[in-house]
Amino acid sequence: MNTQPIGLFDSGVGGTSIWKEIHSLLPHENTIYLADSKHAPYGSKSKENIIELSIKNTQYLVDRGCKIIVVACNTATTNAISILRDRFSIPIIGIEPAIKPAALKTKTKAIGILATQGTLSSTLFHQTTDLYSDGIEIVERVGEGLVPLIEEGKINSEEMTSLLKLYTKPMLDSNIDYLVLGCTHYPYLIPQLIKLLPTNINIIDSGAAVARHTKAILEEKQLINPKKTKGVNTFYINTKNKQTIATLLGGDHDIKYLDF
Ligand code: SIN
Repeated sequence: MNTQPIGLFDSGVGGTSIWKEIHSLLPHENTIYLADSKHAPYGSKSKENIIELSIKNTQYLVDRGCKIIVVACNTATTNAISILRDRFSIPIIGIEPAIKPAALKTKTKAIGILATQGTLSSTLFHQTTDLYSDGIEIVERVGEGLVPLIEEGKINSEEMTSLLKLYTKPMLDSNIDYLVLGCTHYPYLIPQLIKLLPTNINIIDSGAAVARHTKAILEEKQLINPKKTKGVNTFYINTKNKQTIATLLGGDHDIKYLDF
């Protein structure tokens, strides 16, 4: 059981930002990553559709013997995690925007959140923001168009810069000092955002916290891989475009096309 892989899925290539954190903390673990790029973006889909795709992805990973599933997608987490937990008996880890640390640390009493429509309109997101919004202005913006550009590898394009300027403008007008990235694709925009934003703005994402949580759950359930050799990592993608995922991952990785 312990040598079985950790399964991760995302609406596309963005969840590799989470995979990197997990791989860096747990290098001996075997992993299977499923990029459902054919159906990206999830953020503008209906809740029912997001649930359906999330169940399909999880089933695929469970059928491949995964011992734990990391839903490396904010939109899938906020819309489908409780259904996945009811349906599957193995541990399911989700990703939520890091609102709590931002709300606790802000000095200007204003924080920005960039996420998809599917995340920002979810009940889970509202429950979290309600817990931490007392006395704090939360400036939410839908990152419309960002995920498709990232999927196409256009991270440093002019179009991307214009969209980032547009979405962060109201946040700057409200004098935020924390920007929470509520989509696993967005950490790949951090170099761009650092160039665009004033230096007093802290950008936070949930990747490292999710990796620590995954490790803690594996330890608690005695599922840690005891091997000291490097894990085997396999990446599946269901579009013909393997270039973006290969570029984001860097190095030499086993990336397979999946007709899924
Ligand atoms: C999307 O597919 O729209 C974004 C995925 C995410 O929310 O992490």
